[in-house]
Amino acid sequence: MNSFSFYNPTQIVFGAGSLSKLSLHIPKNQPILLMYGGGSIKQNGIYQQVINALNGHQYIEFSGVEPNPTYENLMQAVELCRQNRIGFILAVGGGSVIDGAKFVAAAVHYTNDPWEILETQGRHIKTVIPFGVVLTLPATGSEMNSGSVISRKSSQEKRFFSHRQAFPQFSILDPNVTASLPTKQIANGIVDAYVHVLEQYVVSSNETSPIQDGFAETLLKTLYRVGPLLMKNPEQTDLSEEWMWASTLALNGLIGSGVPQDWSTHMIGHELTALFDINHARTLAIILPGVWQVMFEQKQKKLAQYGRTVLHLEGTEQEVAEQAIELTEQFFHSMGILTRIDDYSEKCYLVWDIPKRFKERNWMLGELQNIDHLKVEEILKLRL
Ligand code: NZQ
Ligand code: ZN
Repeated sequence: MNSFSFYNPTQIVFGAGSLSKLSLHIPKNQPILLMYGGGSIKQNGIYQQVINALNGHQYIEFSGVEPNPTYENLMQAVELCRQNRIGFILAVGGGSVIDGAKFVAAAVHYTNDPWEILETQGRHIKTVIPFGVVLTLPATGSEMNSGSVISRKSSQEKRFFSHRQAFPQFSILDPNVTASLPTKQIANGIVDAYVHVLEQYVVSSNETSPIQDGFAETLLKTLYRVGPLLMKNPEQTDLSEEWMWASTLALNGLIGSGVPQDWSTHMIGHELTALFDINHARTLAIILPGVWQVMFEQKQKKLAQYGRTVLHLEGTEQEVAEQAIELTEQFFHSMGILTRIDDYSEKCYLVWDIPKRFKERNWMLGELQNIDHLKVEEILKLRL
């Protein structure tokens, strides 16, 4: 295991009915900005519970945070915060609303153009307004991490930042909230969390940790088991509990501590969302098998470990590793997710902008930083 420093200050309030405890966690005597998305919380009753919890507080609302939240839209919330001297943000939603709140919280006191936050991956942030979360869609782990992914419409970019102050102060994780999710979002949530674990586990195996591997394998087994069941029984709370906690643990920094991490699937996937507007999880399902094929030699041992432990495959190391790639893609299909770029767009030729962009940005991806723009091109060719 490598040396590491693990920091995570987010208070988790977990369990069916935990939304009723929200009022205990909202700070008093601070003007609050309530942020949410396109309105699902008004249909499923979450909004009313949040408004009840805000009773007696001074607050204003900012709604309409889009899936893959945009800089252009969020800058209106930044202005609102500045005008109303907002001291606390309450984000109610999935990864998009939470990421949007993180950006707004970091941008309010940022003196330069806040897009720079994304260009510099958060390095120059000085102050982040405190914020809390009511999670409505288990998937991204944003409820217990300090990362945020923001898109810019004008330049068709989707970029990431993180900062030590950008952890939520608290997150309410109430599994009852998932009952209203359409199956498409359940599939997205399961697959996103599944790939988060894989990005921190199927790596070149020189510096592994049996402890982190064990955590990762438990999370993978859990998501692999509950995913298909949830598609048929979205209201089953015990399944939602497992999904919610597994998704949070998949990206709260724990399983990635002390081990190499890949993240190339995410970096390429973000470009597919920026260019073709494909849902985040679906971009991962498209790209991951390509990364594994192109980087097979480096990942074979860990792929075989994954195949044996999680998928119960048998055979030689190479056979099991190859079958693990196939079975993972079949798992995505079983969740109703298509895995080729041309399943989503007729303008596949646009993908060749991606390696060009990575070359311009001097990006080297993967756990060994050896995936250059030419390898990205190879990966994309396999996934058309
Ligand atoms: O906008 P509303 O009306 O709320 O509807 C949302 C949205 O349309 C709906 N929804 C959410 N909870 C619901 C619900 N519908 C019914 N019942 C509920 N309880 O679901 C739709 C998708 O929501 P969104 O927040 O976009 O999904 P997700 O949580 O998958 O977030 C995706 C975003 O997170 C980023 C992605 O890139 C993408 O922008 N990520 C953030 C990460 C992080 N901060 O660590 C890591 C991830 O890898 C990812 O990149
Ligand atoms: Zn993701």
